[in-house]
Amino acid sequence: MDDTPNQLPSTLPALRAKAADAGFAMSCEDRTGNLLTVLAAARPGGRILELGTGAGEGAAWLLSGMDPTSRLTTVELDAEVQAIAREELGGDPRVTFVAGDGGAWLEEYDGPPFDLVFADTWPGKFTHLDRALELVAPGGTYLIDDLLPQPGWPQDHTTSVEHLLIELDAHKDFRCVRLAWASGLLMAVRTA
Ligand SMILES: C[S@@+](CC[C@H](N)C(=O)[O-])C[C@H]1O[C@@H](n2cnc3c(N)ncnc32)[C@H](O)[C@@H]1O
Repeated sequence: MDDTPNQLPSTLPALRAKAADAGFAMSCEDRTGNLLTVLAAARPGGRILELGTGAGEGAAWLLSGMDPTSRLTTVELDAEVQAIAREELGGDPRVTFVAGDGGAWLEEYDGPPFDLVFADTWPGKFTHLDRALELVAPGGTYLIDDLLPQPGWPQDHTTSVEHLLIELDAHKDFRCVRLAWASGLLMAVRTA
């Protein structure tokens, strides 16, 4: 089976070109993006959170699966890189961009929980994990990637990833599946 996605968001080529011009190389890969599309499509009227917008490729995949009543909030520390996403996706009324630290945003957020959380940066994954999990609605999904060894990982990152996986697997309120696929993913669904 060839699992190369064959339906790409229409916004992806422009985002990708601008990300390359800006030297931004941390966007999610296509198979992960394809999964984001499907998970978003499974949540009509869904509330979706992305931590780490980057240049907006993950957001483009999410938006391409979302129905007209779904909403995406995406948080990014680097306003310059997020500007690429804002330029290309900002005309879509379903998306809200937040520029700032994801950890501070998680601490301050006091709205309703989310049906899908794509935690694609440090806060919500290696810091503020409990808070991010708390924001997943019952039956909602928490997704992380980059769990297989990546070039440029900081020293001791393998240990941090192992601890994260063990902590998530042991969480009493979530059921988890590890996917040794694409960059290495873990998907967790809130059961209580
Ligand atoms: C892996 S990239 C995100 C890629 C994007 N989600 C996608 O799928 O294309 C991680 C992003 O997190 C951002 N970041 C780093 N520290 C952050 C923080 N404390 N709060 C929010 N974003 C942060 C980085 O600037 C980077 O753009």
